[in-house]
Amino acid sequence: MNQHEILLKLENVEKRFPGVVALKSISLDVRAGEVLVLLGENGAGKSTLMKILAGEQAPTSGDITIGDRKVSALTPTLATELGIGLVHQELSLIPALSVAENIFLGRLPRNAFGKIDWKKARKEAGHALEALGVSIDPAVEVRSLEVAEQQLIEITRVLARGPRILLLDEPTSALSDSERSRLFDVIRRLKQRGHGIIYISHHLSEIPMIADRVTVLRDGVVVDTLPAEKADENTVIGLMVGRRLEEQFPKEVVPLGEPVLKVAELAAGKTLKDLSFSLRRGEILGIYGLMGAGQAEIAGALFGLQPVRSGAIEVEGRPAHFKHSSDAIAAGLGLISRDRRESLVPMQPVGPNLSLSWLAGRSLFSRLDLARERDEGKRYVSDLRIRPASTSQKLFFFSGGNQQKVILARWMSSGARILIFDEPTRGIDVGAKAEVFAVMSRLVSEGASILMISSELNELIGMTDRVLVMRGGRVSAELPREDVSQQNLLHYAS
Ligand SMILES: Nc1ncnc2c1ncn2[C@@H]1O[C@H](COP(=O)(O)OP(=O)(O)O)[C@@H](O)[C@H]1O
Ligand SMILES: [Mg+2]
Repeated sequence: MNQHEILLKLENVEKRFPGVVALKSISLDVRAGEVLVLLGENGAGKSTLMKILAGEQAPTSGDITIGDRKVSALTPTLATELGIGLVHQELSLIPALSVAENIFLGRLPRNAFGKIDWKKARKEAGHALEALGVSIDPAVEVRSLEVAEQQLIEITRVLARGPRILLLDEPTSALSDSERSRLFDVIRRLKQRGHGIIYISHHLSEIPMIADRVTVLRDGVVVDTLPAEKADENTVIGLMVGRRLEEQFPKEVVPLGEPVLKVAELAAGKTLKDLSFSLRRGEILGIYGLMGAGQAEIAGALFGLQPVRSGAIEVEGRPAHFKHSSDAIAAGLGLISRDRRESLVPMQPVGPNLSLSWLAGRSLFSRLDLARERDEGKRYVSDLRIRPASTSQKLFFFSGGNQQKVILARWMSSGARILIFDEPTRGIDVGAKAEVFAVMSRLVSEGASILMISSELNELIGMTDRVLVMRGGRVSAELPREDVSQQNLLHYAS
């Protein structure tokens, strides 16, 4: 066996579905005796690529070379003949048939009279299962089995055909640790015998267990192929989501100005007993605490949403006594609350959700500026890349991350100078989080100040200039940026 022999090669393979380019110019190869782990977020194109290799879908263009055979598309029969076996992501067994029938579907052994040799079928199925270390009776119907067992049968069925190139599309999603390690043993044996394997997984921890090389797909493009020893989790996540982890937190160093919000001995609600701080222009001040430490009352107390028991608040040098949130808004505050449902008007599109914040400073008799509402709606949709890019769709239909961007847009359009972010990334995905952080950086560089109340250690570490740690309703520590670490935050909070 030649270890470097190329078993399979793809050149510029492209696959278009109506309205979607699932794969763009994919080139990769698989060599004898290696496991190529294929990674990518949902929708990256992994399963489509596997179906093309198994002949179930035809590529729109490109070449596939298997051994010395070069084709523009495969059929299932040709793929099998050329030694390709695909274990599907979705189970493709026939529930009403027995395990043995499923394993030998379409090629059950026959006796000299042309009749199916059931005895032989069961025996061979038994052997095939044993090779995977599985003890399931080949005579039982597949529908009586657990999902994990069905997944093992699916794998057995493909292995029983003795493929030279084995494709596994997320085969371990339903398996226990011991079932997985048996599968890995089988894969290692195949490797030693010179087979080539493409293994798709969502478990990055499986990379060091099984991979020789790692290929990352993103939006239908191969972003990189790395030797397994260079494919540590940070690198791989960065490639998958398209930014490095440190870029997740686009913190900018902004010169700090005069104090804009001063809070002295504030007490509110049941848990907040004594909070004093001074927030400076351009600063992101973090507040961290474990559940019940008082931090959950801060936003409401500062924003006029809940009564203050004692203490003093000063905004830009003037004492503030906010009875309603409209008073706080008129004084230049904005709140991104922990529960988006509290602040959104879901049955309205972007525009009215922005203009809500303009009403605070106006007399009852002035008219709402609809032209401004429309223009600013358009501007923020494009500026913050709000999706759908629509000014007529109701926010109800937007994802959490996009709803959050609309709330950010609201305070940008109201010209709020002091922003309270209360758990700003709760329930939004990684990509939208990074965008929210980018907006935070932009806001402070334009002269705003942010109070960032968060229970996410990483985002406090990534974004703040300083963190107040709360314990028992009081500040237990004040950490400058250089001391904000997981260890310190947890230490002073507990
Ligand atoms: N049969 C299909 N028709 C239309 N679009 C499809 C079809 N199969 C997959 N897609 C689209 O192709 C892209 C890649 O999907 P898929 O290969 O399943 O990704 P992955 O397995 O990496 O999650 C997605 O945008 C998906 O919606
Ligand atoms: Mg898939």
